Amino acid sequence: MTNTRDTEPDRLPDPSDIAAAANILCGGGLVAFPTETVYGLGADARDGTAVAGIYALKNRPAFNPLIVHVPDREAAAELVRFPAQADALADAFWPGPFTLVLPARSDNGISSLVTAGLDTLAVRVPSHPSARALLTVAACPVAGPSANRSGRISPTRADHVRAEFGADAPLVLDGGASADGLESTIVDLSGDVPALLRPGTVARDAIEAVLGEPLSDLGEMMAGAPTAPGQLASHYAPAASIRLDVAIAQDDEGFLGFGPEMPTHNGPSFNLSVAGDLREAAANLFDALRTLDASGVPMIAVMPIPAQGVGEAINDRLRRAAAPRT
Ligand code: TXA
Ligand code: MG
Repeated sequence: MTNTRDTEPDRLPDPSDIAAAANILCGGGLVAFPTETVYGLGADARDGTAVAGIYALKNRPAFNPLIVHVPDREAAAELVRFPAQADALADAFWPGPFTLVLPARSDNGISSLVTAGLDTLAVRVPSHPSARALLTVAACPVAGPSANRSGRISPTRADHVRAEFGADAPLVLDGGASADGLESTIVDLSGDVPALLRPGTVARDAIEAVLGEPLSDLGEMMAGAPTAPGQLASHYAPAASIRLDVAIAQDDEGFLGFGPEMPTHNGPSFNLSVAGDLREAAANLFDALRTLDASGVPMIAVMPIPAQGVGEAINDRLRRAAAPRT
């Protein structure tokens, strides 16, 4: 089994593909689109019927709000208010794999389905060239959760989206493999203290350096679970069960490893990064889980992965993937 990533550079967007996708969005339809984090399932965020289509296709609980994607900060400023700290974080991390939860403007036109009735809105300016082109041409705010059924592994390739939805798949704009491979870092600036809702490839220490203060932890709102801090809701779940911090896998297990010291294994195995590079491991994680899952093993054993930097996000996703399923 492969343990390297066939890194196609992000495909340059084809203008006719972008136009076709933008037409669908503007007509109230759904489009799956590439981003540097994972593929999104997009709809015009102002169109309640279109947004309802996202929840229906994903089978997503209606109380779990969506991120709105915009082409630039100016477009974001029409939707939310930017306190000084938000300006600093947007300067540092946009465009890129970074989402801000901010106080929503009351007249922003966003469907209340997107925010699940909250008075805050999550906004992101992605860097992927196809996403940017789509947002610019469609010229509407695009609500976009990850393009997977609720609770399952997020897609990092166009084929993952097609496999996930089968005959129900919307148009998938193919932008190659997502370079970051994990969902965006989410920081909430709507409360008294800045809070990290979801770790990602923009790591905690980089954000704290910009803020000049520590981030508190609130924990991501998760489908089907209370929003209690540190809640280990089941998410990112493959069909196989997952056990963490395993030194040597058993013969009937799949083995997910990391680094140059990965022990040999008789069954299916995947090394997230032979070099021990956490960014490479993040980019490979979801594809590796899908690949091992497809081999039919009942259990995937995972080697320990360092928790610093991007490792915080990798370990977060693995803990949720290993959490008891509801
Ligand atoms: O990288 C990403 O963020 C990808 C790509 C497609 O942009 N999108 C993504 O969306 O991961 P989704 O729906 O899978 O995750 C969005 C997360 C959820 O945990 C949701 O609860 C949280 O963002 N969220 C959205 N709006 C929020 C709000 N107003 N307050 C707090 N959390 C919010
Ligand atoms: Mg998701």
